[in-house]
Amino acid sequence: MKIISPSILSCDFLNLEQGINDLNNTSCEWLHLDVMDGNFVPNITFGYQLVEKINNITPKVLDVHLMLENPQEYIKKFADAGSDYITFHVEANGDVKEIIDEIHSYGKKAGIAIKPNTSISEIINYLPFVDLVLVMSVEPGFGGQTFIANSEEKINELRQIKDDKQYNFLISVDGGINDKTKNKANNADVLVSGSYLFDENMAKKIDFLRD
Ligand code: DX5
Ligand code: ZN
Repeated sequence: MKIISPSILSCDFLNLEQGINDLNNTSCEWLHLDVMDGNFVPNITFGYQLVEKINNITPKVLDVHLMLENPQEYIKKFADAGSDYITFHVEANGDVKEIIDEIHSYGKKAGIAIKPNTSISEIINYLPFVDLVLVMSVEPGFGGQTFIANSEEKINELRQIKDDKQYNFLISVDGGINDKTKNKANNADVLVSGSYLFDENMAKKIDFLRD
């Protein structure tokens, strides 16, 4: 059974409370929160203050995706804000194992994300320690892009490693997921989806993505 994690990047930010309430009324298990610093990616979104506000109005698991050049400086802030999963990029600055350990020290789940041109070999040494691997199937920064085909192989490769070694991490896929591409992520555990989901049929689309 897949976990569906709608990306609030596609919400109307002027009516965010309504957007979160609408999601609360669907079957989605998680909410995906894209934090961008205008440095690691060419876009700026929001920070830990908004994560805390969202945490106050939803019972859903908060799946926080940090697209930050220096994630380590902010781990405690995002942990205190009520994040459940804190996922950072292996391509960013900082000692990867130290960051994973810091996230765990706050009792949070640690995720590691890879951009489309980063191979699994770059994270292979960390796989025993993480709770989630986020495969970016578009270049991070913006919603509404097209699923990059080679992501399917990466998902399958990760699934193979996970099964062979009996690792516990969840495989999450982020970018360009919709009714036509969901089959490319059959081996994933979590589907992140933004632009496809957000219309009056959102609740049905979430159920459809999960099947
Ligand atoms: C992109 C973000 C994604 C994005 C997904 O940098 O990490 O989470 O919101 O949106 P769609 O589903 O529109 O590709
Ligand atoms: Zn994301």
